[in-house]
Amino acid sequence: MHTTVLVTGANRGIGFEFVRQYAQQGWQVIATARNPDHGEALRALAEEHDTINIEKLDVANDQSIDALAARLTGQPIDVLINNAGIFGEFEDQAFGSIDFARFDTFMRTNVLGPLKMCEAFVPHVRAGRLKKMVSITSQAGSFGLDSGGLPGMYFYKSSKAAQNMVMRNVAHDVKVHGIVVCILSPGMVNTAGEIPPERRFPGLIEPPESIAGMIEVIDRLTLDDTGKFVRYSGEPQPW
Ligand SMILES: NC(=O)c1ccc[n+]([C@@H]2O[C@H](COP(=O)([O-])OP(=O)(O)OC[C@H]3O[C@@H](n4cnc5c(N)ncnc54)[C@H](OP(=O)(O)O)[C@@H]3O)[C@@H](O)[C@H]2O)c1
Repeated sequence: MHTTVLVTGANRGIGFEFVRQYAQQGWQVIATARNPDHGEALRALAEEHDTINIEKLDVANDQSIDALAARLTGQPIDVLINNAGIFGEFEDQAFGSIDFARFDTFMRTNVLGPLKMCEAFVPHVRAGRLKKMVSITSQAGSFGLDSGGLPGMYFYKSSKAAQNMVMRNVAHDVKVHGIVVCILSPGMVNTAGEIPPERRFPGLIEPPESIAGMIEVIDRLTLDDTGKFVRYSGEPQPW
């Protein structure tokens, strides 16, 4: 019997690497992207693995989420990974030059997106064997860490803190269905491609290391872990 994972924002970065590693492990992968036509690397990967299905999904659009949940009616999902997110530009979120009109897009994408995904996909995850929902958040949303020294970034940081709170609530609400919710920090991951050595800051890791760690954390999850905030290496993170 197949084990199935659904990944949002799967066309590049961390989401793409989740698809690559799960496909390599023989999982059935529902790889979602808001513009599948622009995801050349994802399409090439799906040609190598017939276990990868690409689906269109914009997490900032409720109708898009409902439409995918309806298209996948009756499809069990073992692990749902809310990965899609936006980081934005430093300038728009720096004190003194804040572009207030951008805030709603952050909240829609980074907070309401994962919440709506969990709500819409409860039936699919309940029908799965593993029953896990994962949200990729950030240490930048933690009050207890120093955001990795990241200045400004008001919208990104506050949306990730809100995402953490939302997922804590979801954990409480879906426990009755035996669903585990995990709030995962991927570390500082280089998703920008080639970086010259002088521009690499300490602690930056490559996607394969971060995602391999997160997959191990996800594999080990039990209902006792629900609602916890954990780093890719498995260490608990302060809220
Ligand atoms: N990289 C890091 O160091 C780091 C650290 C902490 C947390 N994270 C979190 O990890 C997740 C992935 O980050 P990343 O570094 O891989 O980012 P990335 O390279 O910028 O990729 C972001 C992905 O999210 C997708 N996305 C954005 N808005 C979307 C929407 N409305 N609907 C569907 N997909 C959407 C993007 O699609 P398009 O290609 O269409 O734009 C892209 O596939 C994010 O939630 C991020 O906050 C990353």
